[in-house]
Amino acid sequence: MDYQVIIPAAGAGKRMGAGRNKLFIEVDSRPVILQTLDVFAADDNCEKIILTIQPNDESQFRDIVASHPGKEKIEFVYGGDERQYSVYNGLKAAGGRIILVHDGARPFIRRHTISRLVQAAHDHGAAIAAVPVKDTIKRADRDKVVETVDRSGLWQIQTPQAFRLPILMNAHEQAKEQQYLGTDEASLVERMGLPVMIIESDYDNIKLTTPEDLYFAEAILAKRRNLG
Ligand code: CTP
Ligand code: MG
Repeated sequence: MDYQVIIPAAGAGKRMGAGRNKLFIEVDSRPVILQTLDVFAADDNCEKIILTIQPNDESQFRDIVASHPGKEKIEFVYGGDERQYSVYNGLKAAGGRIILVHDGARPFIRRHTISRLVQAAHDHGAAIAAVPVKDTIKRADRDKVVETVDRSGLWQIQTPQAFRLPILMNAHEQAKEQQYLGTDEASLVERMGLPVMIIESDYDNIKLTTPEDLYFAEAILAKRRNLG
């Protein structure tokens, strides 16, 4: 089933502390953003890749993707000051029935997860990638434990998040009108009382956020090279 994908790439990468957009950092000698684009470029069901970027990064992004096989599918759109605004700008350039949102900083997503998300979004309206929480979770009042939270039924949420396009568009418009800022797309859909399905993903679908994530990224790539 065909879909389009919005890839937010308009962040500053502050927590990575590299002094530039972390998507330009090279892992295994290639910029992170190219690794993220690989899977969508190779997927014939992906009709269009909407890359939301900051104007200051535009020439660097254009140079980097110039020889990438996904180049023909990519449309650049300027992002906003918050991730949610970047995604909304991307949505205005989107068409088709199913839209995915996938962080530029999450390069290890698998094709298998994408196709399950697309199918579930088609069937139920909204579906998100997630893994079961594996740490013990406690709630604290500053440094004093208040309670241990029951872990069963808790999920760590990732991207991609997949939606029927009108559902995500309505959710964003309503959030904008009500000045609600969520940390993911699904939370905007949940507020409208609509169902969001969970698709179990992989623990290695990490987001590169802080410097140590780069070691994990090298290890994941080395492992995949050995398997492949
Ligand atoms: N993003 C975006 N527009 C923003 C903020 C973030 O498109 N205004 C993108 C980032 O480029 C990234 C994804 O959203 O691919 C997830 O965000 P995050 O991991 O927080 O990246 P940054 O915002 O770049 O990092 P930081 O929060 O540490 O500054
Ligand atoms: Mg951020």
